[in-house]
Amino acid sequence: MTASVLLIDDEEALVRSISFALKGEGYRAFGAHSGAEGLKMLGQNQPSVVLLDLRLPDMSGMEVLESIRADHPDLPVIMISAHGDTRAAVKAVKLGAADYLTKPFELDELFHVIAAALDRKRMDDEIAFHRHDALGKDGWIGTSPAMLRLAETLGQIARSTSSRVLLLGESGTGKTMAARAIHRQSPRAEGPFIEVNCASLPEQLIEAELFGAEKGAYTGAHQKRVGLVSLAHHGTLFLDEIGELPLAVQAKFLHFLEGGQFRPIGSNNAQSADVRIVAATNRNLAEDVRQGLFREDLFYRLNVIQVALPPLRERAEDVPLLARLFAERYAQEENAPPIRLSEATERCLGQYSWPGNVRELRNLIERLTILRGGALITPDDLPADMLSAPSASGRAPIGHSLADTERALLEDALAEAGGHKSRAAEILGISRHALKRRLQRLGMEG
Ligand SMILES: Nc1ncnc2c1ncn2[C@@H]1O[C@H](COP(=O)(O)OP(=O)(O)O)[C@@H](O)[C@H]1O
Ligand SMILES: [Mg+2]
Repeated sequence: MTASVLLIDDEEALVRSISFALKGEGYRAFGAHSGAEGLKMLGQNQPSVVLLDLRLPDMSGMEVLESIRADHPDLPVIMISAHGDTRAAVKAVKLGAADYLTKPFELDELFHVIAAALDRKRMDDEIAFHRHDALGKDGWIGTSPAMLRLAETLGQIARSTSSRVLLLGESGTGKTMAARAIHRQSPRAEGPFIEVNCASLPEQLIEAELFGAEKGAYTGAHQKRVGLVSLAHHGTLFLDEIGELPLAVQAKFLHFLEGGQFRPIGSNNAQSADVRIVAATNRNLAEDVRQGLFREDLFYRLNVIQVALPPLRERAEDVPLLARLFAERYAQEENAPPIRLSEATERCLGQYSWPGNVRELRNLIERLTILRGGALITPDDLPADMLSAPSASGRAPIGHSLADTERALLEDALAEAGGHKSRAAEILGISRHALKRRLQRLGMEG
């Protein structure tokens, strides 16, 4: 969704030129020339951020600010003050304005202040989301539509008493976390949450692990053993990497799912247990079924509700937020000052493919906190394989500094566009204005 900016200022030329510049940066922009008009447009246009002049013809900027704060307490308002009005602007910030700009200001400054205000708003929304949603307790982080939908789905699943859930997703996408979240929000929350990794045990032992065994039932069974299925009674049994369950054990497990009964190894007595099953896999189980590696009947028994956890690279907008919250968390754990990420670093992280998903990101932040606590992390501090950015023309320039990479990208695009800046901007997918700024910053435009 494009963010929209409402600009309330009586200087018509300023309103016009700033609106134009904002549109060039990809914002929607609306202008109002008085306090009353501004407040009216606020209701109609629902802007994401307001730029508000301190001096307006009909009322003071302070009054407009108060009125906005009363009706839209979460809406970021950036004050614009004339030279000499700085004290009033500072007072406005104390009263809840997000920031202020002093005329005359540079466009770069304007863009930066707006982006920062929107960023903070996003963080605030996220924190509010954590506070209000029960999943927050489990530390679930994400503002991308995919993650918000997922959090909602998990809550719904949790409240249904008996449904089985199959969690699908690459390693590190949050399957274990989701399974715990389902349990903790379910009516079984007071019962046990028992986790078993089907890939970690040899075939002979996994059956005993799940269903238990009588003393002497197999070599090495020196005493009677209670199975995890029994231990999970009235709770949730989480079967991780279910795709690795050996076929022989699959049959026994299917039997349990169908009738709620099982027999420990070496025992003639059927036992029963009331458990909710949550299973997870990073394999394509349907494909395994086709190849005869996984029982079709068991697949359908488990696959009552299917939830897919998207890989991190498909929700890059969550990366900076996850990174910052992990930075806070590890700073607390390590009793170290939190690392800060430069804008360029956040951009690199957003473009990286994250084969290890959230786990990889978490490990990176943990390592950086231990090694560089308190530091501003620049792209040079990142592992080299996080720095490559594919170019518009398909080549992948890999530079040690981000500036080099960016320069190469811009050169490529300009060459391809035969030197036409508008065309080059189009190739790069940025505005002409943004291209110009980058060229200036990199000293490529004289
Ligand atoms: N949405 C999320 N918010 C916060 N932390 C997450 C999220 N998803 C995953 N993590 C963290 O990433 C790591 C890997 O998650 P995990 O549930 O173990 O993944 P999986 O079981 O799919 O391999 C864990 O430390 C977990 O806390
Ligand atoms: Mg896991």
